[in-house]
Amino acid sequence: MGVESSCDETGIGFVRDGVLLGDSLASSIEEHVRFGGVVPEIAARAHVQAMVPTMRAALDDASLAWHEVGAVAVTAGPGLATALHVGVAAAKAAALALGVPLYGVHHLAGHAAADTLVHGPLPDRSIVLIVSGGHTSLLAVDDLVRTPIRHLSDTLDDAAGEAFDKVARLLGLPYPGGPSVDLAARNGDPNAVRFTRPLSGSRDPALGFSFSGLKSAVARYVAAPRDPGITVDDIAASFQEAVADTVTRKAVLACQMENVDTLVIVGGVAANSRIRALAEERCAAAGIELRVPPPRLCTDNGAMIAAIGDLLVREGAKPSPSSLGARSSVPLELARLDD
Ligand code: KG4
Ligand code: ZN
Repeated sequence: MGVESSCDETGIGFVRDGVLLGDSLASSIEEHVRFGGVVPEIAARAHVQAMVPTMRAALDDASLAWHEVGAVAVTAGPGLATALHVGVAAAKAAALALGVPLYGVHHLAGHAAADTLVHGPLPDRSIVLIVSGGHTSLLAVDDLVRTPIRHLSDTLDDAAGEAFDKVARLLGLPYPGGPSVDLAARNGDPNAVRFTRPLSGSRDPALGFSFSGLKSAVARYVAAPRDPGITVDDIAASFQEAVADTVTRKAVLACQMENVDTLVIVGGVAANSRIRALAEERCAAAGIELRVPPPRLCTDNGAMIAAIGDLLVREGAKPSPSSLGARSSVPLELARLDD
């Protein structure tokens, strides 16, 4: 069983031998809309209310009974502290009551593992681009649970999803911003405004990410539009194009620099239609195999945490102690996260 509660989704999933048996998801997103962003205390209270019903719904979906659960994995970080604590407490209670091992896992390793549920085990070496609400990183992954993960780059400031959410707010599009920008961009011209591609100069770090300057460029444009004929949809499409162009170009470059021929794109922003299309185009041209999970497995869910738990169980990994705590901020090095 995988338990996810790092942000505004309560996710429970069941995975056995790499196969997703069933899952369930409850979201408190509606409760945050009027605040324009996730309110940690509201998210935590919603997790408390949703946890047991979501566990029951996931068991039903997987046609499993409690006594058939062999291990419990839970997101122990990173994420909102109050929200993480609810999942960790629930997972500990379930593991203790069932007499099964408990595994604290890293949320981002879960995002990467989500892809294995649809495309099978990862190859010996892959490059993983994580684009989520809190993180944007290029990772060199050999084995998700056995080998430490090497960070080729991490965003210097905002994460890609954060930029989508902030730009949506600037454009008056509803929260959550990513899907709103994606939708608006479908009716817009991606070449209407040529926003500068971040960290793309010859003296910039080739794999570096930074999104706060791009967000400010959109803010400046909105404050003083140069062409009155340009619509919100055009600005959304132009911003989205700048992000998609930057992340896919750098991800393909990372594969070439590391001599790796598989690219995996995961995290909430991997649900973006333009990033998916451009990544496909560029990977095909560069002879790179592209793996992107379906959108519902890109955003936070319990199945991805169960996927990592299943890998840890099969690897014979040491379970976490019952003193397992939550860590709101922790870099991804190993999938297993203790304290
Ligand atoms: O991975 P995730 O569900 O949660 C975190 O771990 O952060 O990612 C959430 C982020 C939000 O910023 C959301 O706006 C963005 O993913 N997102 C999208 C799309 N769907 C979700 N961004 C762009 N286009 C989308 N279609
Ligand atoms: Zn996430």
